[in-house]
Amino acid sequence: MNLTITNDQSAGMLLELHHQRLDDMLDDIELCADAENWSEAKRRFAGFRRDIEEHIRLEEELIFPIFEANAAMPHGPTVVMRAEHVAIRQTLAAVEAALADERPISRTTAELEAQLAAHNFKEERVLYPAFERLAAAATRAALAATVEALLRGRDE
Ligand SMILES: [Fe+2]
Ligand SMILES: [Fe+2]
Repeated sequence: MNLTITNDQSAGMLLELHHQRLDDMLDDIELCADAENWSEAKRRFAGFRRDIEEHIRLEEELIFPIFEANAAMPHGPTVVMRAEHVAIRQTLAAVEAALADERPISRTTAELEAQLAAHNFKEERVLYPAFERLAAAATRAALAATVEALLRGRDE
């Protein structure tokens, strides 16, 4: 991995690095599936799914509520982001089903990549900067430590 994790990065920066990490993991899964190495593709997908679910959980439980609790902020963006998480999970289930049947996954993963690209862009431009601006210092530090551990957990 060519990601650089340092101790002074904000939660937003670390979540952005985690987006890149998840993209890389998905690329590796596609390579395994293209080579019909199904056991490795399934093993890697299980890790990918666990990590992206944890990423989504952190956003829905810690990032979005800060935005939603601030009366000056419109609620529309987090409604859209939560709906996109539902759509992302549906595509994750479709990839998992294809892998279980040992069917090609490239069309489904292309859809997932398109969903993630549009979704992550909005988070990185709007939601994460708002979190950094609005959340208390202790909340920001706690989330940064959690995301840093998530990133370091898969450094092997
Ligand atoms: Fe998200
Ligand atoms: Fe995200």
